[in-house]
Amino acid sequence: MPENWSSSRLDLHLDLAAEGGRRARLEAALREAIRAGRLTAGTPLPSTRGLAQELGLSRGTVSAAYDQLAEQGYVITRPGAATRVADVARAPRPEPPQSIRPGGRIRHDLRPGRPDLSAFPARGWLAATRRVLDRARPEAYGPGDPQGRIELRAALADYLGRTRGVLTTPDRIVITSGYYQTVQLLCRVLLAEGRDVAALEDPGHDFYRDTVRRAGLTPYALPVDAQGADTGALAVGTDAVFLTPSHHYPTGVPLHPSRRQAVCAWARAAGGLIVEDDYDGEFRYDRRPVGALQSLAPEHVAYCGTTSKTLGPALRLAWTVLPPDLVAPVVRAKEEDDLYTETLGQLVMADFIATHAYDRHIRAARLRYRRRRELLIAHLSAHPALTPHGVPAGLHTLVSLPHAGPTEADLLTACADRGLALRGLTELHHDPADSPGGLLIGFAAPSERAYPAALDALCAVLAGSFR
Ligand SMILES: Cc1ncc(COP(=O)(O)O)c(C=O)c1O
Repeated sequence: MPENWSSSRLDLHLDLAAEGGRRARLEAALREAIRAGRLTAGTPLPSTRGLAQELGLSRGTVSAAYDQLAEQGYVITRPGAATRVADVARAPRPEPPQSIRPGGRIRHDLRPGRPDLSAFPARGWLAATRRVLDRARPEAYGPGDPQGRIELRAALADYLGRTRGVLTTPDRIVITSGYYQTVQLLCRVLLAEGRDVAALEDPGHDFYRDTVRRAGLTPYALPVDAQGADTGALAVGTDAVFLTPSHHYPTGVPLHPSRRQAVCAWARAAGGLIVEDDYDGEFRYDRRPVGALQSLAPEHVAYCGTTSKTLGPALRLAWTVLPPDLVAPVVRAKEEDDLYTETLGQLVMADFIATHAYDRHIRAARLRYRRRRELLIAHLSAHPALTPHGVPAGLHTLVSLPHAGPTEADLLTACADRGLALRGLTELHHDPADSPGGLLIGFAAPSERAYPAALDALCAVLAGSFR
């Protein structure tokens, strides 16, 4: 007989057994809640009068159950004060999984693509939240717009135009819950139009390749060389091409200007869609970032951004700037998928951008990541056999390995043995047999304090492996 108790302070689900007297059943249910850690040490229990009323018991029954628990040491009663849960030993809660492979724990996080979460601008975010809630009208707490809050779309239209050269108005923007969802929505719309052949960079992000495949499209490999994706290799009949033009994932090369032109010419001639994943476009360290490809062909590019690298993936907040004819179908797909993205976070993000707190946060992060990348490159220079790839940008560096020497698998094992997490290149290739092997070393994930130790651990592995 499950019951809910609510008092002025807390709610608790109590599973009152079907068998036994009323006092015994209440006592057992409270004891179980304390043992399981659902009622923690110091928590005040409701007054005997309040609980009796809620559960339809007599006050004497509740009082007797509390007395029993006090005698057994589960609660502490004091005259004139609330009865409180005592500090009793209980089964430990399971630790969240953190393994890099079964049995291993991450001590140093050099995984690519992860920002420094310890630098999340919590104060600024809190201040923006306060401002938003102070001003919010009741409708802010009501149903949202499948396209996204106009406040955020307006702020993004300004911001993306100013920082990335994106040509847009707020009505061309759709807010989504991550690039992951953007890809799913675009694929669904393409498929509904009978367009199902997609070119994906090889190597490229395996997760998004799987997402495209799961959505029902047929992805094929578009080779990548020192100039980025080989746009000349786009096959006849291609409906869409997924690119990371400002900083190819994972090699780190920007798409060559001639290829930027070429892929736009292809889109115009073939009526194809370019999906521009600008996942880390804010982070360029040697010069101003190359502007978005979208500005060359706004009628043919779905430009996609995310907060996952700038603030943190926890927000699940992203956007896409669409060709006009795709807006309505994508908004419809969004509504069918999950109605709309959580809206208060959108309002906070709009404020965060409009007050330039986002710019300040990104500028500070850029400076820190630049220094970290320089430090990584300096450490790697002790091993001339290792070649870092790509331009100074993003949150990771790809390092290719010499032919003679330890393999990618050897190095990943040696890293895992030291609790050092990073990624290998091979799983990012469409066909792993094509991979020359390499290490993707992220330099953003650790906190400022933890980064030097992570680099030391990496250097120790490299020194042991390249003697
Ligand atoms: C290449 C690439 N694009 C986009 C994203 C962002 O994805 P999301 O917005 O779904 O977190 C990531 C994050 O891992 C990424 O590595």
